[in-house]
Amino acid sequence: MSRMAKLELDGKSYELPIVEGTEKELAIDISSLRAQTGYITLDDGYGNTGSCSSAITFIDGDKGVLRYRGIPIEEIAGKSSFVETAWLVIFGHLPTIEDRERFSGLLTESSRLDESMRKHFEGFPPNGHPMAILSAMINALSTHEPVVIDDDRDLEEAAARLMSKVRTIAAASYKASVGEPIVYPRYDMKYVENFLHMMFSVPYRDYEPTPEVSAALNLFLALHADHEQNCSTSTVRMVASSQANMFASCSAGVCALWGPLHGGANVAVIEMLEQIRESGMPVSEYVAKVKDKQSGIKLMGFGHRVYRNFDPRSKILRKAADDLLASMKIHDPLLDLAQELADVALSDDYFVERKLYPNVDFYSGTILRAIGIPLNMFTVMFAIGRMPGWIANWKEIHDDPKGRIYRPRQVYVGHTGEHWMPREERHYDEED
Ligand code: ACO
Repeated sequence: MSRMAKLELDGKSYELPIVEGTEKELAIDISSLRAQTGYITLDDGYGNTGSCSSAITFIDGDKGVLRYRGIPIEEIAGKSSFVETAWLVIFGHLPTIEDRERFSGLLTESSRLDESMRKHFEGFPPNGHPMAILSAMINALSTHEPVVIDDDRDLEEAAARLMSKVRTIAAASYKASVGEPIVYPRYDMKYVENFLHMMFSVPYRDYEPTPEVSAALNLFLALHADHEQNCSTSTVRMVASSQANMFASCSAGVCALWGPLHGGANVAVIEMLEQIRESGMPVSEYVAKVKDKQSGIKLMGFGHRVYRNFDPRSKILRKAADDLLASMKIHDPLLDLAQELADVALSDDYFVERKLYPNVDFYSGTILRAIGIPLNMFTVMFAIGRMPGWIANWKEIHDDPKGRIYRPRQVYVGHTGEHWMPREERHYDEED
């Protein structure tokens, strides 16, 4: 028999089932709470709310553990390419050789954008933000692609079209922003190499990435492939719960990712490091400013809602950044500065007491900078990487026959007992 939690409320006693996940996480199932008691729960920012059960990704934030489909991220990193990781995340197990070849083939076939889609790029201003373009273009794909998905084979094709075209859209938006002609994908290139070709080839010179650059970008994308119920993934699930199609749902995910508290932090970290470097401010002084709540400054790339320990992705990325820079014989002073900041913060009581550690965004920008990705494309790179996670979460919602629309409640704290009044009678105090 399942364990029950007891709730005493207004002199009455209620029982609520306790749910246990496969990694022994415990939750109280409150789905009957309102019907039984008339109360709802209130959890600003959802810090204690499990919005769903999911079989995709497991995080133990206290121990710094991250697993995709049960496999530790440390085992995936460097062994599985982004494409293999994507298939694992979406379909639940590592692909066989046939799965891998079929999916790669689908990705290659789907890389071209319809000519009418290409025309959209002419409508955006040259300095339009690539995240706005990416979101709009993914949504526009709904008008070009089949959106009805009946089985896993349909999903595999749709996932390949979305993942492949997102890469083409991202590169095309970059080309449009720098005033260079859009480069067509090549059918003889793998996922990451093809992206770099579309980003950096020009009509008079083909770009050939080194194996080290391809490996670093594969790793970057694989490490971003999924991360449980974060802001953008929850957004994708929210939109999907209304039975919106996969392209529309993932387009919403891009918008949620954009903000500096989420995926936009990879841009904010570099801006912060550049600002410290240019001002010549000692790192200790910057950290003191961060600790002063009046300043409104945060240490970007630090802290996480779930991790109260090292984010395992930041450890892997730190090493990868060192390896890539060494292979390219580059010295990036911003990486030194980032490390100095981390060292000061990690030995400071403010960060220790609040269990604030470097997150995925703290070192990832160094890798992107070394590859030559411009700063305004950093969050787009995150979005390309996160696409498999969004697709997998969309699939969980889509495949759930008992799925209900996501619709949280609220505690209303606004005016009560007001009435409509004619315009000439409306006089409000300043603070109204
Ligand atoms: N710098 C300084 N103080 C911080 C930071 C930070 N980066 N992060 C959290 N804190 C402080 C808070 O001010 C709060 O202090 P208090 O207890 O004195 O009020 C305490 O630590 C707890 O922080 P919360 O704001 O409750 O943490 P929350 O879980 O709501 O936010 C978040 C998590 C948004 C990631 C936050 O740590 C942050 O803003 N970090 C910087 C932005 C960033 O790097 N975002 C990327 C996250 S990873 C990702 O989305 C891919």
